[in-house]
Amino acid sequence: MTESHAMQPLEFKRLSEEAMLERSAAVRAAWARRRSVREFATDPVPLEVLRNCIAAAGTAPSGANKQPWTFCLVTDPELKHRIRLAAEEEERVNYERRMSAQWKSDLAPLGTDANKPHIDDAPALIIVFRRPYERDASGQKLPNYYVTESVGIAVGMLIAALHESGLVTLPHTPSPMDFLGQILHRPAHERAYLLLPVGYPAPGAQIPVISRKKWPELCVEFA
Ligand SMILES: Cc1cc2nc3c(=O)[nH]c(=O)nc-3n(C[C@H](O)[C@H](O)[C@H](O)COP(=O)(O)O)c2cc1C
Repeated sequence: MTESHAMQPLEFKRLSEEAMLERSAAVRAAWARRRSVREFATDPVPLEVLRNCIAAAGTAPSGANKQPWTFCLVTDPELKHRIRLAAEEEERVNYERRMSAQWKSDLAPLGTDANKPHIDDAPALIIVFRRPYERDASGQKLPNYYVTESVGIAVGMLIAALHESGLVTLPHTPSPMDFLGQILHRPAHERAYLLLPVGYPAPGAQIPVISRKKWPELCVEFA
């Protein structure tokens, strides 16, 4: 016999084509202005705004609705500084030994190096962890599905929510990122996925000139 599960009606209102066009064009223009920022003002940001953005990211779809993520919100300056020092240690090894010549040449236009002052300067860090599995009360492993895809979608939504809320961020990967789980006392099976400094840009902040794919490289249409 098949089990029955609770269902509810979907709340959905169709928009006119005109409204859809207007909204999609507005989203396109607004998101085109999103940029990764590496120079942050030290001004604090309202905690409730950060919490709203994290809650928005938490509405992301996920494999079998397992929601295989944990977000850590760090505003404590001492903790941020510990994270900066550990990140810079890994990044020094990355730049000196782990990165290929090709990788370093791809990064050159961005002007990045092993120094990460933005981790101190940004008033908040959001560290996203992925959870490959859960454990039930008896310690039995329970699988999560499409963990990387699910967490990636949630992070994309987080970045969009921060941008829409008037903040800037930087997806930062000072890999390997095991130090983040250790500093933040996360369970051993949670793996750090991304570090996002969040705040306002420093006055006069500079960003690299980049280009973005356009049709037909961006999208191949089959009508
Ligand atoms: C998964 C991922 C990891 C990234 N890691 C770093 C990083 O460690 N350091 C950094 O300065 N930028 C990092 N970036 C930012 C990219 O360099 C940036 O997104 C790209 O140059 C495009 O610029 P834009 O975000 O301003 O559009 C990362 C971006 C992604 C998506």
